[in-house]
Amino acid sequence: MAEVVGVSEIKSTAELVQDASSVFFEKFGSKPSFAACGPGRVNLIGEHTDYNDGYVFPMALPQVTVIVGNKTNTGLCRITTTAENADEPRSIEVHLPSAEKPLQPGLPAWANYVKGVVQFYKGTLSSFDAVIVSSVPLGGGVSSSASLEVATHTFLEALDPNGPTTDLRAKALTCQMAEHEFAKMPCGIMDQFISVMGKEGHALLIDCRSMDAKLVPLADPQLVVLVTNSNVRHELTGSEYPTRRRQCQEAAAALSKKSLRDATMEDLFASESSMDREVYCRARHVIGEISRTTEAAEALQKEDYATFGRLMVESHNSLRDDYEVSCPELDQLVEAAMAVDGVYGSRMTGGGFGGCTVTLLKKDAVGRAVEYIKGKYLGKPTFYVTAPSKGAQILSV
Ligand code: GLA
Repeated sequence: MAEVVGVSEIKSTAELVQDASSVFFEKFGSKPSFAACGPGRVNLIGEHTDYNDGYVFPMALPQVTVIVGNKTNTGLCRITTTAENADEPRSIEVHLPSAEKPLQPGLPAWANYVKGVVQFYKGTLSSFDAVIVSSVPLGGGVSSSASLEVATHTFLEALDPNGPTTDLRAKALTCQMAEHEFAKMPCGIMDQFISVMGKEGHALLIDCRSMDAKLVPLADPQLVVLVTNSNVRHELTGSEYPTRRRQCQEAAAALSKKSLRDATMEDLFASESSMDREVYCRARHVIGEISRTTEAAEALQKEDYATFGRLMVESHNSLRDDYEVSCPELDQLVEAAMAVDGVYGSRMTGGGFGGCTVTLLKKDAVGRAVEYIKGKYLGKPTFYVTAPSKGAQILSV
């Protein structure tokens, strides 16, 4: 839908492979023989529930991180990123990890996602030269980091003499471990899981306790998922995320539950007077959000977009008021979107404190919504018309 004025075009994966291959040729003087990609994601509903054993309902985006490269026999991995916002240096050289000499996290920050996956990869490693390009907006709350981890893992599978892994859950967990240990971000499993498992035309209802997932069709040609980047990122995510995790554990302990997945609103109300107020509100968000998520998945299955949209807005309000992870820019974007005729629902998506909103609307309302939101928002937003896309793939070059 690039014909709608103000909507950003999304480069195709084939174009990104082309771009990466040209950089590879300039840098290493040969054509790459291997390529892989991992998509970003947008979460439709189910925010800050994954690390509470709850449900999430994301879809994979058409924006992907692509890695192209070749095997080498030097024992060294030479990796270059073309991402504009990546910290310097944008080219690094690391040795293959061994028991005596494991890889270590450090600077540049972007390389930690790659090094972490190389370190924890369960198959057979070969050294390689590689170039990374990405169309996933960095720091936009649409999982640029998970897309890099999953693209790296898939690239290593492409090089692996034993072929790609069949254990996709283990793959997502390896990528999550890289994020925990190398990027020091104690994330849940949602981002890596959807980047591995995404399916075209479907959102995925993931039970983060059992790791079971259910595909729900989202391919109505009259419906659009609009991702709006606020283009702000408040530097709070790093410190606030682990605090929220701790508060959830505290709440579960106060309710004598293994996790907030096991708690009901009645349990919570009964403990209100004995609980710290902030911890109580955090738990109220999580318990409410888990039931909103399964309800929303059922509504989508029935193509009941009005109910789905209402639940999206309730989710946003709860993230804003009880979980306190929204910010004025995201609130403004949601409020503007909700004033447009043909919009079913809108909410912040991802960890919060900036990044993107996700809006479900009628296709014929997109132009109107973009115009209106641009007029109301005090910053400079970027708009993407997206559709549920494929999970990670080995690509041909
Ligand atoms: C970040 C994390 C996810 C999830 C979301 C909030 O994106 O990486 O695991 O916790 O925040 O829903």
